[in-house]
Amino acid sequence: MSRPSPSRTDRVDFRATGDPALLEASDRGDSHLLTYRQLYELWERQQWAVQDIDFSRDRADWHERIPPDERFVRMYGLSSFFIGEQRVAAELGPMIWACPQEDMRIFLCTQIADEARHVAFFDRFYEQVGVLEGETLEARLQETSPHLNPEFGELFDELLHRRVQRLAAEPEDLEALVEAVTIYHMVIEGMLALTGQHFIIDYNEAQGTLPGFVEGFTNVARDEHRHVAFGSRLLRDMASAEPRYGEAIQRALAEVAPAADGVLRPRFIQDENAQIFGASVAETREFAMHALQRRLKVIGLATAA
Ligand SMILES: [Fe+2]
Ligand SMILES: [Fe+2]
Repeated sequence: MSRPSPSRTDRVDFRATGDPALLEASDRGDSHLLTYRQLYELWERQQWAVQDIDFSRDRADWHERIPPDERFVRMYGLSSFFIGEQRVAAELGPMIWACPQEDMRIFLCTQIADEARHVAFFDRFYEQVGVLEGETLEARLQETSPHLNPEFGELFDELLHRRVQRLAAEPEDLEALVEAVTIYHMVIEGMLALTGQHFIIDYNEAQGTLPGFVEGFTNVARDEHRHVAFGSRLLRDMASAEPRYGEAIQRALAEVAPAADGVLRPRFIQDENAQIFGASVAETREFAMHALQRRLKVIGLATAA
């Protein structure tokens, strides 16, 4: 079974997030989840700056070393992240209003800043490396949209957006909050983003390509582990308070599973065993499910698979 590579996910700063997917003890349901306040304090210690990253080698790699057909495949993975970061940053506001405790709201304010930084990271990569022709952030977002598949739109613009719209109208609907956190933190960040990041970073490290991108994307991954650790904590607290919240988690997971699975498979890949970023669709799915199972165990729910 695919596991996070020891070189990266055994790093002290990654494991410090307490994301259950990184810890063997999670297989036994042992919990090392931080409190909301501790997660805030960790955010203060884990700052980084997009403007400090040097993309000059990346520019040379992109135009001189990476062949055009491979650039096309890479664009799929990058577009999903660029647009995904922009979408989730836009959805967090109503989720903050709906959180029942001040410590939760304070942490999610840090997460909005992180997601904005992630958008800025991709935008600067595209601009400095010269990947796109658009001259503004909006133009670059628009230019990358055709690389996405329909399941991406379904997951972000329908399944997540519908819950967030509900929270904007009824912030006291805690079941809708639990469903939104399940889709955002468990599925989009935990299953999709962190899985893509794992294989894309490994692939670039193995190929010796895009060192500036790898540096920034590793920082993005560390942020995402912290976000998922928050989501795991919130869902465990809610599910242990009332069984109906545990049921809401399972309901949301079941509803979004087909769309989530579709996002892991690019439109141009028909064969489950075809390799993209050094791994097959089957391998990436297995990696995502293993991470989900560990987190669900720590939340206190039976595994979905
Ligand atoms: Fe992000
Ligand atoms: Fe995130």
